[in-house]
Amino acid sequence: MTVPLLDIHLTDADAETALRADARAGLTAVPKHLPPKWFYDARGSALFEEITALPEYYPTRTERALLEGSADAIAAASGADTLVELGSGSSAKTRLLLDAFRRAGTLRRYVPQDVSEPALREAMAALAAEYPDVDLHGVVGDFTAHLDRLPPHGRRMVAFLGGTIGNLLPSPRAEFLRALRAALRPGEQFLLGTGLVTDPEVLVPAYDDAAGVTAEFNRNVLHVLNRELRADFDVDAFAHLARWDTAHEWIEMRLVAQRAMTVTLAELELTVAFAAGEEMCTEVSAKFRLPGVRAMLAEAGFAVVHSWTDADERMALTLASAA
Ligand code: SAH
Ligand code: AVI
Repeated sequence: MTVPLLDIHLTDADAETALRADARAGLTAVPKHLPPKWFYDARGSALFEEITALPEYYPTRTERALLEGSADAIAAASGADTLVELGSGSSAKTRLLLDAFRRAGTLRRYVPQDVSEPALREAMAALAAEYPDVDLHGVVGDFTAHLDRLPPHGRRMVAFLGGTIGNLLPSPRAEFLRALRAALRPGEQFLLGTGLVTDPEVLVPAYDDAAGVTAEFNRNVLHVLNRELRADFDVDAFAHLARWDTAHEWIEMRLVAQRAMTVTLAELELTVAFAAGEEMCTEVSAKFRLPGVRAMLAEAGFAVVHSWTDADERMALTLASAA
């Protein structure tokens, strides 16, 4: 077994600087907002894993079933020897792709990339034991900033699963796709998992489960601010809200102040006021329609090879080639 490599493009100091900038900008904006990437400290990553097993949270099990039915065809169509994955988290579903590429006899290297170093290290320890014949090359980085630093080796297929692209707002999303295309050589591939627009009666409970795990995940960003920026958010004084925005076709998660509050972030020497009932956006999760997925890929310079959807058309996997 070769020793796994780990590139760090986001040190604790870089993350701290970025968090400070995002917190200051977001908490002084009207309306207030925070970017979703700060959910994922060790606790947030563990809460996300719990979410994936909830009965209401259909995206993970639907995409897993899609991968079970399509991974061999994806491996055959791709011919890649290197699987790169953005926002890889626990790499749980990725094992279906790794197994298919191994069956096809092409798999040499797996490059998981994630902003969360603890999640990445934990995933890599398990993968190293399960895939001793595969070169593992982890990358701690931000997929909105560090795509030009992906390892260049091999014939690559980049996977971006789970519908995480929907957590980017339209303008950063277009910029992400443009940067990804620029980072790839012609003929290299992109496998994109997207949530599709479906019934709000299915969508909203997926983001507001009965057991309250998503609420804890949402509030976790306040624990992160309390710890990292010496803030004094009374976390339990914020309620979780998930709303389907019909015009934008996205779920919006918010934290709602249950009373008027003043919060101090000592590291930022910043004090912010919340009015009773004030809502702060912490995540959008955009859902797509297949023609829209194809259009955004084409606009960024990708040629769509094939899309797979489940029978209820809730999730899609789209394989595209860098044109
Ligand atoms: N791909 C997995 C995990 C999805 S959860 C799945 O489909 O189940 C989203 C993952 O993206 C988390 O592991 C989180 O740490 C990571 N992430 C969020 N924002 C990121 C960013 N800007 N750059 C890199 N990783 C990010
Ligand atoms: C990671 N991402 C695709 C999840 C989603 O569904 O948008 C994050 C999440 N937020 C609430 N539940 C899960």
